[in-house]
Amino acid sequence: VNKALGTITFVLLTVLAGATPLWTSDFESGSPDGWKPRGTSEQLTVVLGGHTGASSLAITGRTTTWQGPTHALAPSWKPGSTYRIAVWVRYARGPQTRAFNLSAELGYQDASAPHQYKNLVSVAVNRGEWGQIVYTYTVPADPTLALVEVYVESPYKADNQATPDDTVDFQIDDVAVEAVAEALRPVPQQDIPRLRDVLAGSLLVGTAVSPDQVNPADPHFRLLTRHFGAIVPGNAMKPEALQPQEGRFTFGQADLLADYADRTGTKLRGHTLVWHQQTPSWFFTDPKDPKRPASKELLLSRLNTHIAEVVGHYRGQVSTWDVVNEVVSDRSGLRTGDEGSLWYAIAGADYIDAAFRAARAADPDAELAINDYNLESSVAKRDALYELVKGMKARGVPVDVVGLQGHISIYGPSVDQFRQAIRKFATLGVKVQVTELDLSIYSGASEPAKQPSADILALQARRYAELFTMFREEARAGRLELVMLWGSADDDTWLDNFPVPGRLDAPLLFDRQLQAKPAFWAVVGAEAGKKP
Ligand code: XIL
Repeated sequence: VNKALGTITFVLLTVLAGATPLWTSDFESGSPDGWKPRGTSEQLTVVLGGHTGASSLAITGRTTTWQGPTHALAPSWKPGSTYRIAVWVRYARGPQTRAFNLSAELGYQDASAPHQYKNLVSVAVNRGEWGQIVYTYTVPADPTLALVEVYVESPYKADNQATPDDTVDFQIDDVAVEAVAEALRPVPQQDIPRLRDVLAGSLLVGTAVSPDQVNPADPHFRLLTRHFGAIVPGNAMKPEALQPQEGRFTFGQADLLADYADRTGTKLRGHTLVWHQQTPSWFFTDPKDPKRPASKELLLSRLNTHIAEVVGHYRGQVSTWDVVNEVVSDRSGLRTGDEGSLWYAIAGADYIDAAFRAARAADPDAELAINDYNLESSVAKRDALYELVKGMKARGVPVDVVGLQGHISIYGPSVDQFRQAIRKFATLGVKVQVTELDLSIYSGASEPAKQPSADILALQARRYAELFTMFREEARAGRLELVMLWGSADDDTWLDNFPVPGRLDAPLLFDRQLQAKPAFWAVVGAEAGKKP
């Protein structure tokens, strides 16, 4: 009896502690309840007609997709804490159905740090009906956060492409934000197979991460430790993150990842030393005259300094460096200034060999990789990189690894095309790694936003399973050693903002609430819920 009473008390307490309402907005008092417009042209007005009660908040006069009502997440939200956000939405005119996104804006103590905008979830609503958007959101465990707001918007379109349908008037009502107790927040399942164990023996599997995710307070932490034997920073080791100003090296955030890798025996890939993107403009500028480009000599000396400092700092911790990223053109040969490479525009092809030599000198034990995209889908690009690496090897340039990014779609390219790319590079006597795998649910940039339906998720699962079967075969044959996913779960994918900002994607093995997707079960070779 005591035990039963104990159980009942426990359940009761958990339920009570589980959802503490922090605030609600029903607009019955006639005031906008602290909601504010995000832009300048839109108006927020309490109007008659609500989801329940007499009134709701109308948003009119929008001219861009991102305009809409915004509200502080809670009076005193905390990094690493979890909140359940529920909003009812309705629109009266325009197309038969419209998607509305619930998003979060994050600001930092350092007022010069750019705000982050994060799409949390997208819900399709029928014209004239109330639809509810619900999302359980864990604020990143980042102690430097200073602002968290939640807002409702339309899926992003560039300002000059937004039609009146994209900027329809809408209403919100019956908003409720609750604190979710740690014990009750959606956490990664711990009773499912470990991806790393299932693939062990043939393949090491890893994922891109951000520094806040290796904090045990972050829900991704348990996905990482359970499933992934390797990590790579999605952004934290890029030049703009490590040397924002000349001579000022900022290793703090990336060090969190290196410490995690050391502590847990996880392999750490370094990404990336040289790239035409996410590199501060000072690299390419004449210090005496900011309107003029740096000389080739100065640019190469900056390259040497950056590589010596960064590779030296992580010596013995990073096992493979992406030394150069995306240096091959999408047309032919090397990426030039026309395709955005100031490295090439100023230094010509020489910067590539120089980067590899500098990296080898700074850490003779690290493997050095050349990394690129579309190698699986474009034979011309694949062959251009093949020739480049062949030439580098002939010149004695220390290149050890070819990285195939693997940003593909559920619709293509074929598994066989992917296999041919792996095999082609393996003949060069280099190691091959798949470095940034994700399977977009879209066929291209022109496809409008859509929900990941059961059919789409099933197709994605089949494709993932076939790919991993191929990866394992290639690994057993000694042609592949490592596969990295570009993110652990769909709540953190760059494809939400690429190639179409704000068009939500679902390309990974775990969903937005960190639960295993059909793709996960397909890769581990089991039906949902069953051990393989
Ligand atoms: C992406 C990151 O995931 C995003 O967060 C960032 O805004 C842009 O860069 N190829 C690469 C990666 O080599 O560095 C890119 O990462 C994705 C494409």
